[in-house]
Amino acid sequence: MALTAENLKANDPDLINVESFRRAMLNWYKENARRLPWRAVFGDKPDPYHEWLSEIMLQQTVVKAVIPYFLKFTELWPTIHDLANAPQEDVMREWAGLGYYARARNLHKCAQMISKEYQGKFPEEEAELKKLPGIGPYTAAAIMGISFEKPSVVMDGNIERVLVRVFGHKKPVRESKKEVYAYAAHLSEGRTDYPGEYAQGLMDLGAMICTPISPKCGMCPIRAFCKARSENIQETLPVKAKKISRPVKYGTLYFIENSKGELLLEKRPGTGLLGSMVGVPGSEWMDKPADIAGKLEKFQINHTFTHFHLILDGVSLSEKDKSVMADKEYFWMRPDTYGKIGLPTVFKKSIKLYLQLKYKDKWIL
Ligand code: ADE
Repeated sequence: MALTAENLKANDPDLINVESFRRAMLNWYKENARRLPWRAVFGDKPDPYHEWLSEIMLQQTVVKAVIPYFLKFTELWPTIHDLANAPQEDVMREWAGLGYYARARNLHKCAQMISKEYQGKFPEEEAELKKLPGIGPYTAAAIMGISFEKPSVVMDGNIERVLVRVFGHKKPVRESKKEVYAYAAHLSEGRTDYPGEYAQGLMDLGAMICTPISPKCGMCPIRAFCKARSENIQETLPVKAKKISRPVKYGTLYFIENSKGELLLEKRPGTGLLGSMVGVPGSEWMDKPADIAGKLEKFQINHTFTHFHLILDGVSLSEKDKSVMADKEYFWMRPDTYGKIGLPTVFKKSIKLYLQLKYKDKWIL
């Protein structure tokens, strides 16, 4: 048994018996696994393309939100070669709404590499997987365990919460990642007994039983191992880190209509936040308000990203003002189709508000 973090002592009497813990988890998972479209039945390996696609979509997003996107992607692009050969703008359009758009650009790049350089087959080595765009240590570990049934230390938000409670860990996770990883390593490093099922079992336990609020400890298959429960502190764990306050950024959005009543949209440059996505044109987003809109009538749009809060002034300009689009790639869109094209949430929300204010709901779908 290899304990990697210095923080855990190998002779600690509190260390959990790995055999019986895993057996309890696997027995529970066999009976209670969530049926998810990317999963195989117990004992089978899922298609690595499906597993990888789901893992990338699940980074920062919940299972319920991912399912329709996963189904749409696999319907449009049944194999990794199909995805690799798709135009980038189609991939970005289908990704719209999932957020964190760099993930979609990396997903597409990764598909092209697997398709061309690896003849469509994912490498079965964790170190090789980590070299691919968009695959970090957590995703590589999940693919290793779940697609290839190889020993790996899988972590996600649900697993983290379960382990923090099982080990009665009383520090904020953000400040003690290594220790929490060591718990996971203690229970899974080198283990060849159903690594994928075990990892997904912990994920499902976290989603269904060991929930953030009101965990259902009475139904939990590993309650006998749980330190938090024995101390009756399960509701207080994981300990929350102090809230980070988000900085605020400011900008202006230009709503420009032509004589046909179509709205001008831009294709954003390939890099940076919301890169390669379609958006409403506007100013850069800055740390201080710059009253670009001046005396024009304006309305306010608020949107929160992970790392900052955004306050935008929406202003209506006329077609002759489209010179603000010099050097930019732009096109016209019928306002009633805004719900159907791939728009990031901030722009969808902005257009909806603009149309509500201007047309008093005439266009709202
Ligand atoms: N979160 C990350 N990977 C997952 C998976 N394979 N199943 C459920 N939730 C997940």
